[in-house]
Amino acid sequence: MEHLADAQARRWAELDPALSVPAALADPAVTARLPDGDAVRCGVYRAVYDADTVQSLWMPRVVWEATPIVGDTGAAGMAAALDGLRRWFDIEVAAEEFGHADTAVELYWPSRDVGVAPALFRHGFVPMSVLAVRSHGAGSGAQPASDGVAVRRATLSDLDELVALQHEELRYSLRVIGGTMRDNATELITTSMRRSVYFSGRVLLAESNGVAVGAADCGVALAADGTWIQHRLPAGQWGYIGTLSVSPDVRGTGVGGALVDAAHQILDAERGTFLFYDLANPLSTVFWPRKGYRPLWTKWVCKPAALLR
Ligand SMILES: CC(C)(COP(=O)(O)OP(=O)(O)OC[C@H]1O[C@@H](n2cnc3c(N)ncnc32)[C@H](O)[C@@H]1OP(=O)(O)O)[C@@H](O)C(=O)NCCC(=O)NCCS
Repeated sequence: MEHLADAQARRWAELDPALSVPAALADPAVTARLPDGDAVRCGVYRAVYDADTVQSLWMPRVVWEATPIVGDTGAAGMAAALDGLRRWFDIEVAAEEFGHADTAVELYWPSRDVGVAPALFRHGFVPMSVLAVRSHGAGSGAQPASDGVAVRRATLSDLDELVALQHEELRYSLRVIGGTMRDNATELITTSMRRSVYFSGRVLLAESNGVAVGAADCGVALAADGTWIQHRLPAGQWGYIGTLSVSPDVRGTGVGGALVDAAHQILDAERGTFLFYDLANPLSTVFWPRKGYRPLWTKWVCKPAALLR
């Protein structure tokens, strides 16, 4: 186990210097063997996104998070780990729970490790989104927003406009990922935006001649022991852009760019910035690289039925 984790850390460091050290799992649920007898492992964690959590807006209710530990065995090791995972689900998880429509299996893997992609595809996984990073100054100096557009920090008086813009972004993103709008979406967005404006104070609003046309919900996150990004990003304080939304009628006129430039100004004191975008989104996949972001981790997702096929 020790040597597997070390070999994986070495391999990842060679692949991409921005990757953090892989998670050290005390007792991963799955052990599988390659044809030559070498062992690989895989951790499994059952995450539940209850109806009152904002994450439930874009996440399935139950997500089985897999953490393969395959050292430097590449695609063969990944295939063996996923075969082992398949057997584990077969034995440990009741078919009716695993087969529920609002369930998925997910795993994050370094985006640059394309060598394992064939094994993931063969086991029913598809690349869904990326965690992308940007270092200070990258992608700056873009053209200014169109005339009459001003960006400022939002206040609680802007809540209705912020909720409408967030709702628009969610509607678009759910189409992209094939998700369903939850009945309580407006309520969850309202609570989340109110909290962001009040506690983080890093919500930006773009107005064109006094009318709200875009919003960015930003914040800071610490990559340290015990935090959710501990194994995703090198240690330190990071800035992030949670959601970015521009009204459909003014997209492509510089509003999103102006919001992101303003966000970087208030986040650039941090170690770097990160965000998530969906690989099937035809707007954000073009937009974010122009603003200096590049994929670090790819989230691969599989419907249980596809894994067990
Ligand atoms: C993604 C989004 C926020 C971009 O905002 P925008 O106001 O349309 O983008 P801008 O007009 O400021 O464009 C900024 C840069 O991206 C480029 N760009 C934006 N959309 C583009 C597209 N569809 N094709 C090619 N280039 C594009 C612009 O040319 C510009 O590049 P430049 O600064 O080098 O000239 C907006 O399209 C949107 O709200 N999309 C729906 C919701 C969404 O996808 N949100 C992001 C979720 S991660």
